[in-house]
Amino acid sequence: MTEISSLGGTRAEPVTISAAAPAPHGMWSSRMAFILAATGSAVGLGNVWKFPYITGENGGGAFVLVYLACIAIIGLPIMMAEVMMGRRGRQSPINSMRRLAAEAGRSRRWAAVGWFGITAAFLILSFYSVIGGWAVAYVFQAGQGAFGGASAEAISGLFSGLLADPWTLLAWHGAFMVLTILVVARGVSGGLEKATSFMMPALFVILLILVGYAMTTGRFGDGFSFLFSPDFSKLSVGGVLTALGHAFFTLSLGMGVMMAYGSYVPPGISVAKTAVAVAAMDTAVALLAGLAIFPIVFANGLEASVGPGLVFKTLPLAFGQMPFGTVFGTLFFVLLVFAAWTSSISLLEPLVEWLEEHRGINRIAAAVGGGFAAWLLGVASVLSFNLWADVAPLGMFEAFAGKTIFDLLDYLTANIMLPLGGLAVALFAGWTMTGAATRDELRMGEAGYRVWRFLIRYVSPVAVATVFIYNLL
Ligand code: PHE
Repeated sequence: MTEISSLGGTRAEPVTISAAAPAPHGMWSSRMAFILAATGSAVGLGNVWKFPYITGENGGGAFVLVYLACIAIIGLPIMMAEVMMGRRGRQSPINSMRRLAAEAGRSRRWAAVGWFGITAAFLILSFYSVIGGWAVAYVFQAGQGAFGGASAEAISGLFSGLLADPWTLLAWHGAFMVLTILVVARGVSGGLEKATSFMMPALFVILLILVGYAMTTGRFGDGFSFLFSPDFSKLSVGGVLTALGHAFFTLSLGMGVMMAYGSYVPPGISVAKTAVAVAAMDTAVALLAGLAIFPIVFANGLEASVGPGLVFKTLPLAFGQMPFGTVFGTLFFVLLVFAAWTSSISLLEPLVEWLEEHRGINRIAAAVGGGFAAWLLGVASVLSFNLWADVAPLGMFEAFAGKTIFDLLDYLTANIMLPLGGLAVALFAGWTMTGAATRDELRMGEAGYRVWRFLIRYVSPVAVATVFIYNLL
């Protein structure tokens, strides 16, 4: 406790940190526990809902290629940096940043990166939980056989009916937030670790079953080539920014989430290797989700480019027509709920970790308070789909014409805050922290370390800045 409060205070003098510093909040019980939890954070609606639809909107293959490049040369090094910084800081992103800056003899103002991250995570949680609520609602719809033999109109009516009804949406949004709070309130090993160690393996099994089914549709090859044969004429500058923003979003970067999870990583575990494992699994799940979804879409003569409704409108239609559609449909939405749930807990965790440190608010109160506040903010997103569907707060700017509050929150976080947060992390890890500190913490071979340092100092910042500036022009 003493350690927490003294570090939360105003110290600015350099501190020395050893790799084996104690973790005030508890720790993951094993390397595998951390990998599952971090993969649980990374694999979410981003993989199963957003990746397929933005791939569809951006024409497939070429977009996927850019996305993969962003993951490998920008996302992965930044993920390593975030986990590494969390482990060395051992506290919430805000206090970790403060502590690491002190270690490097730099300004405490670097704590702003932690603030920025926690804010971004909170904003994302507010609308993430709304979509998570749709997924929960659809488990029940699918389970009751609501899609069976239904027409396209009936299915899209089901979805628009759900969106049109603020009270129902609020209830599902609330139910999803309660699920999130329940896990976070139980703590690192009793909550986060237990939940992810069950849900992640289940998610993989369900996903493989669905890909197996997609192989029987006769259009697997089309789905495959849609994802993997690039046609660069279909790629726009906006598409490149979307791919970059999504790389951050899907790896849960730039918002302190990986830093918070990193702060529970026991000493002696290779940050580098675990980060590679997490990024690889996240990418595999996104691609597998694409391989499960697009063949089903094509086999039913449906469009890939329908946008956010892809998994809620297009897929149910397909489930309604296929043999055992009730079973596959229910499995699919259970998968979506698991994916969203293991991510939403990671969105709430950094705030809770900070509240715990800050005057020692207890975890249960912190989880309930933080979750409730995010739920309240989420009301604005709920209303964006019905009563406020025509409210475009930034409509005076051409680029934001017609964007609802929900659209703006999504855009602001994924396309602006996350890349900026990631940029700050890259600059901090590459230029502010000493080579001795990063080398000590990452614990990787010399060659690998050099590659990492080169990527984090030059490649990631330049790439993020370039895409950013291009987008402004
Ligand atoms: N990575 C999650 C996804 O792909 C979303 C997320 C973003 C989770 C940021 C935590 C932090 O859905």
